[in-house]
Amino acid sequence: MRMYDLIMKKRNGGALRREEIEDMISEYTAGRIPDYQMAAMMMAIYFRGMNPEETVALTMAMAHSGDMMDLSKIEGVKVDKHSTGGVGDKTSIALAPMVAACGVKIAKMSGRGLGHTGGTIDKLESFAGFTTGIDSARFVRQVNEVGVAIMGQTADIAPADKKLYALRDVTATVDNMSLIASSIMSKKLASGADAIVLDVKTGSGAFMKTEEDSFALAREMVTLGNMAGRKTIAVVSDMDQPLGYAVGNALEVQEAVETLRGRGPEDFTELCKTLGTYMLIAGGAAADGQEARRKLDRAIEDGSALRKLAEFVEAQGGDPETVYDTSLLPQAEIVEEIISAREGYVTKIDCEEIGICSLLLGGGRETKESEIDLSVGLVLRKKAGDYVAAGEPLATVYANDRQKLGIVKERFLNACHLGDSAPSRKPLIKGVVRE
Ligand code: URA
Repeated sequence: MRMYDLIMKKRNGGALRREEIEDMISEYTAGRIPDYQMAAMMMAIYFRGMNPEETVALTMAMAHSGDMMDLSKIEGVKVDKHSTGGVGDKTSIALAPMVAACGVKIAKMSGRGLGHTGGTIDKLESFAGFTTGIDSARFVRQVNEVGVAIMGQTADIAPADKKLYALRDVTATVDNMSLIASSIMSKKLASGADAIVLDVKTGSGAFMKTEEDSFALAREMVTLGNMAGRKTIAVVSDMDQPLGYAVGNALEVQEAVETLRGRGPEDFTELCKTLGTYMLIAGGAAADGQEARRKLDRAIEDGSALRKLAEFVEAQGGDPETVYDTSLLPQAEIVEEIISAREGYVTKIDCEEIGICSLLLGGGRETKESEIDLSVGLVLRKKAGDYVAAGEPLATVYANDRQKLGIVKERFLNACHLGDSAPSRKPLIKGVVRE
């Protein structure tokens, strides 16, 4: 196989054969194909797409590029959850302990921020000492003992995706349906859970901007999961504005904690309960949606979900006290409001721009090597459909650099559109894909 020939074949719109994809992935994983050639291939795929056979071959090649985790030592049904990535998406941090508190084992592998979207691992590292760099033996033990564990993608699990994910992040090749589907599903298949609940985002802050593309991505991933013998279900949810109010690592952790106290934003709480319902049913802890909801509500009301978060944080080396006192989370030095110059209704928030604002403040990575600032970000004070008076704050910015703060304030005001009448409210849950 000559990588040059494969790049040219794809660039010219050809379909790669299964053996070509397998060779390409194993050679790249072994370091025998340089990043610049793989980046060219990713760009060719981005423009030319992949057919279903190519997508299956890429998913399987990446899943088998390292170890396939064996979770058979964990009793009961192991459920995993994954989001295609959004802005303000702190779902796993609240959802995993909620579901675990209801008795379903959560064995989850998470990633870092990608493009304008944040990553669960970065957010969890806001708990001082917290580590997702745990080995599979510790992971299995923790799921058995605590009921929930989240590990980072180790070098041994889908290493091809780990390399490709980082490369795509800095070469503008993330938002392609086949690449997203194969990236997510290769990790999910390699990490061994029996059932997978996917949260496929749609809208201006998602990688898939239209509902049509998002449902197509959902179908593609559900098919890949079911084909590999895992019970897979996808919920398509709105990402046309940030989820909840907080965007930025520690700020999002704080909002997730508030949600477990029963004081979370309405949309975020609803999403957690919807995904949680499918996870409880898949995990055998509830017979139907009503029973699942009742259990999830109770886990919040009686404090067991919050305690589960503290237990989980402690098990992974973090300070559990932070769960009960969020002032211990990293704090930004500058806190300033963005004021609305006029009155009106928020008609639209350009969600990707809000993700970029957080990234520019230092909350995300611009290159593979960037260090991120966990304390910075934004907290929206108004969301689409809300009325704002002249002089009222639209958002609060948390920054550590005045120059970045100035840039972000201007970008935010351009991203937040006001009009004279209230727009119609859009549903949060767009639909569910099971087959
Ligand atoms: N999340 C992933 O794991 N991979 C992608 O390609 C996009 C989002």
